[in-house]
Amino acid sequence: MNLWYGGDYNPEQWDPAVWKEDVELMRRAGVNLVTVGVFSWSRLEPVPGRYEFGWLDEVLELLYGGGVRVDLATPTASPPPWFSRLHPEAMPVTADGVRLTHGSRDTYCACAPAYRDAAKGIARALAQRYGDHPALAMWHVHNEYGTTCYCSLAAERFREWLREHYGSLERLNEAWTTAFWSQGYGDWRDVEPPRKTQYLVNPTQYLDYRRFWSDELLAAYREQKNVVREYSELPVTTNFVFGGWVPVNHATWSAEVDVVAIDHYPDEAGIGAEEQTAFGADLARGWAGGKPWLLMEQAAGGLNVGRRWHPKEPGRMARNSLSHIARGSRGALFFQWRASRGGAEMYHPAMVPHAGPDSRMFREITELGSVLPRLAEVAESNVVAEVAILWDAECWWGMQGTHLPSSELDYLKAVRSAHRHFWRAGVTVDFAAPDADLSSYRVVVVPSLYLVSDETVAKLTAYVESGGELVVGYFSGVVDPDLRVRPAFAELLGVRVEEFHPLADEVALASGGRGQLWAEDVQAFAAEVVDRYAGGVLDGKPAITRRQVGEGTAWYVSTELDDATAARLVGAGEPVETVRRRAGDTTWTFRINHSTQDVVVPAIGVELVTGQNVDGELTVPAGGYAVVRSSAGAVGGRAGAAAGSQRRR
Ligand code: GAL
Repeated sequence: MNLWYGGDYNPEQWDPAVWKEDVELMRRAGVNLVTVGVFSWSRLEPVPGRYEFGWLDEVLELLYGGGVRVDLATPTASPPPWFSRLHPEAMPVTADGVRLTHGSRDTYCACAPAYRDAAKGIARALAQRYGDHPALAMWHVHNEYGTTCYCSLAAERFREWLREHYGSLERLNEAWTTAFWSQGYGDWRDVEPPRKTQYLVNPTQYLDYRRFWSDELLAAYREQKNVVREYSELPVTTNFVFGGWVPVNHATWSAEVDVVAIDHYPDEAGIGAEEQTAFGADLARGWAGGKPWLLMEQAAGGLNVGRRWHPKEPGRMARNSLSHIARGSRGALFFQWRASRGGAEMYHPAMVPHAGPDSRMFREITELGSVLPRLAEVAESNVVAEVAILWDAECWWGMQGTHLPSSELDYLKAVRSAHRHFWRAGVTVDFAAPDADLSSYRVVVVPSLYLVSDETVAKLTAYVESGGELVVGYFSGVVDPDLRVRPAFAELLGVRVEEFHPLADEVALASGGRGQLWAEDVQAFAAEVVDRYAGGVLDGKPAITRRQVGEGTAWYVSTELDDATAARLVGAGEPVETVRRRAGDTTWTFRINHSTQDVVVPAIGVELVTGQNVDGELTVPAGGYAVVRSSAGAVGGRAGAAAGSQRRR
């Protein structure tokens, strides 16, 4: 099987003459898959019930003739203007009560029956017409599910969800701690979404609204998927978008997609973007349960993120693509194929930029397109990782309420810094859901798992007892899934957290290390103290503890270690990102050099990009990459194990 290469193709923005050039350029670039129709609803159904498929027929024929397969999208993320005019009740309402109007995309309430019916309608029309079209390789339902609405239709659905979830108002009152501030409910009709209110919102109401939206959007996805299934056996997916605003629990959604697909746009520049790329890719592999997944979108060039320009210097696009592929992606796709001449994203980079094919960007795209077929053999192999980081979207949402003791507490940041420490040490990590099987990991890291269920605590305890090494980060195990306080990890860790100490400045540790952001007054009643706070109110108190439990060890780290301190504990790597994949006796070692110097690494086998035999040493060019296939025993086995033997020129 080939690796997929291509991107969103929006031919409705161009004359048919351009389509022909597109297919010719796609052939030159080695493109073999494009996502078509993501935003085509108003072209496909210009007036309600009247479909115009002629142009799409032609586009699919052209692509098929050019050897380019199609990931056909349902266009339901952007209903046409007539839909908004006919169904004003389906326009979304913000938390502060403003009903939005037509003018962008994603402007609908997924709880509105009119929207759901229209979405199923256009999905059926497409599936009926193209279900057995030979150009199709897969289906792409919707685009980046993630819109939340607070209208009365959503409120009604929320109540239904709550009734099902809690069974009784009594149980809801208990879970939401409504005894506080006189919030006790005596009638279901009084329960509302967590709209803008006078002061702090009820944290469990807020969390439940996220849970509810994840389930509601999943139901909307499933409806479309089922419609498509009536006409086609091809894989169906949707592209996951990642962000604090997204009410989608991707870990649970993954069971409903035939292949996990993500969009990835780092919001940091420089080396931070490389680490985020690895983070996004590892997360996607975690959602996919270790199976191959697909990078559905990334940017080919520099991008304006958060009002800051993030450049993509020469070589970075290829390195990022390789990092995704090394970490399990079945290919590298982009938004979008050809840069738009107008519209809201006209300055978004594309595989074919405004400058046209005679450009650095298109040359780099073409070069990568020529390399990927040589790497196709990795597609079915598994990424090797001995460390897992726990990831739980519900914990993230639980920490997004306004009730925390410090506004600096940030679940994503805590997880990211744990990932970054290992990434810098050259150690590949998996992300694992709280209910995942952890038995194959040497180390499991649990950063700021504020919300944790009793089942997860029992599972982690069993993991340690049977020989695992567990590292629990600060502000973990504080509340149950209803956000009610109870000390979940005290017994396992042998520590009691008596008081929180959010930090304005750094705090010194006796070992010479430093903590930041957060500290705790910890009593180590049954744990060994590995490091202590030095100076300040916590002077001499435990900062890091360790406890032997059964065959394993449970650590507690009560502060956010700075990068230098973490590097002392986890290790410091080289500027070459290394990922190993394995199938049977064969290992593929990806080396991605983010530095500006050539780096020599140990290697025995065949380098797939150049096709050359390597016997002992391999030079990974500055800003470049290499992939070495070797048979068992030829290269040091463990993930990251070779990092120590790398040397810089
Ligand atoms: C994605 C989206 C694309 C495009 C892209 C720009 O989130 O799916 O349609 O908007 O962002 O970066």
